Formats: sequence, C-alpha cells, structure tokens
Amino acid sequence: MEKKETLKDGTQLVIRDLTNDDIDRLMALYGTLPLADRRYLRLDVTKKDVVENRVRSAKNRGVTWIGVFCGDKLCAEGRLELPGEEWRKKHGEIRLVVSWKFRRKGLGLMILRELYLLAAEKKIEKLVAKMMRPQVAVRKICRRLGFREETLIPDYVRDQESEIQDLLIMTCDMKDFWSELEAFYGASDWRRCR
Ligand SMILES: CC(C)(COP(=O)(O)OP(=O)(O)OC[C@H]1O[C@@H](n2cnc3c(N)ncnc32)[C@H](O)[C@@H]1OP(=O)(O)O)[C@@H](O)C(=O)NCCC(=O)NCCS
Repeated sequence: MEKKETLKDGTQLVIRDLTNDDIDRLMALYGTLPLADRRYLRLDVTKKDVVENRVRSAKNRGVTWIGVFCGDKLCAEGRLELPGEEWRKKHGEIRLVVSWKFRRKGLGLMILRELYLLAAEKKIEKLVAKMMRPQVAVRKICRRLGFREETLIPDYVRDQESEIQDLLIMTCDMKDFWSELEAFYGASDWRRCR
C-alpha cells in the first residue's frame, strides 16, 4: 500500500506499510515524544530492542503497521491489531502515535482513516481503543469519531514510571465511525488541508 497526501501548507506526505527497515525512523519519531506522552504507552519506546522486537513480530501477532512519511522522516504511525481469537474475531484494536512536531495537523485523523479502511478490508465490525486515563488527546479524537467509553477499569495497568493507572476501553461500530469520519472531513474533501 502506498498513498500520497498533501497538507494545506504544501507538505507532501506518503502513507505506506512499515517494514523492518523503518526501525530507526520509528525510534526517531518516538524520540520526539515528551515524557508526558511516553509514560502512558504500553512499552518503553526509548529502548531500541523493545521496538525492534515489536516490529519484527508484528505479522505473527496479527498487527498491520502503517506510517505517514514526510520525505524520509516518519511523522506518524498506526497499528491495527487483530486479536485472532474466535470470540473476538470481528474486533480490531487501534493504536497510533503522531510525532510531537506534527501534532494538530490532521495526521491522527489520517492514520485513523487508513486503519478504518484496513479494518473494513478485513471485515472487522467493531474497533476498540484502550488507553490510560491521562491520555486525553486520544480520548478526544476517538470521542469525536464516534467511539464511546465502554468501561473504565480502576488501577489496572502500570505506566512507564510504575505508577498504577486506570484503563479506559472505548469502542466504535464500523458504520458509526465511517459517518463521523466523513462528517469531520466534509462531504468530498478527504484531505485535511489545513
Ligand atoms: C492522539 C494523537 C494521535 C492525536 O494526533 P494529532 O495528529 O495531533 O490529531 P489530529 O490533528 O488529527 O486531531 C484531530 C482532532 O482530534 C482532537 N484532538 C486531537 N488532539 C487533541 C488534544 N490534544 N486536545 C483536544 N483535542 C484533540 C481535536 O478535535 C482535533 O481536531 P482540531 O485540531 O480541528 O481541533 C496524538 O496526540 C498522540 O500521538 N498522542 C500520544 C500518543 C498516544 O497517546 N497514543 C494513543 C495510543 S492508543
């Protein structure tokens, strides 16, 4: 998969699958994140061996991993994770990270749109997003795209500073997500263009 996008300021972007050759680019992207973001991610993304292992094992874990590139630089990444269990076979979990330098330009939406299209191809019916309570930005973008808060499990996970955090689970039916996404972009303009 490879697609071209242009932001309103003229920035040219390419969306494509991530490969094992993108590990250094991923490390550079994660390197832009302030601790306030990093501490709530599932893994310690400052450790190259951890990231490398995730990328190399992605396919075996049912993960489709895509990136938005500006030239040679990776500015956002997103994952669609299929649990692969019979009872959740129509579920797809989404994860995404946008470089600190590219925030609020619509890249989060762009990644979510691509993850939606991938999920539709795989006949997923429900999207799931899991986050720690302080991850406000992802909560807001998900809310805005029609996800609802299903449950909050108190004191369930530990952040990267070893502090216990509540886990919030949000879900969205595929059809609701699509109509919200369309409304967000406007009737015909798929580009964020701002
Ligand atoms: C969540 C995240 C991916 C959003 O990326 P982004 O590219 O900045 O998001 P977008 O520009 O596409 O935002 C689209 C809309 O989402 C909402 N939104 C996004 N970030 C927001 C924030 N910090 N506060 C409030 N609303 C926000 C807004 O409605 C925004 O539209 P607007 O800019 O016109 O107001 C980014 O903040 C991030 O990478 N966070 C750290 C990693 C993380 O928590 N990942 C989640 C793991 S599941």
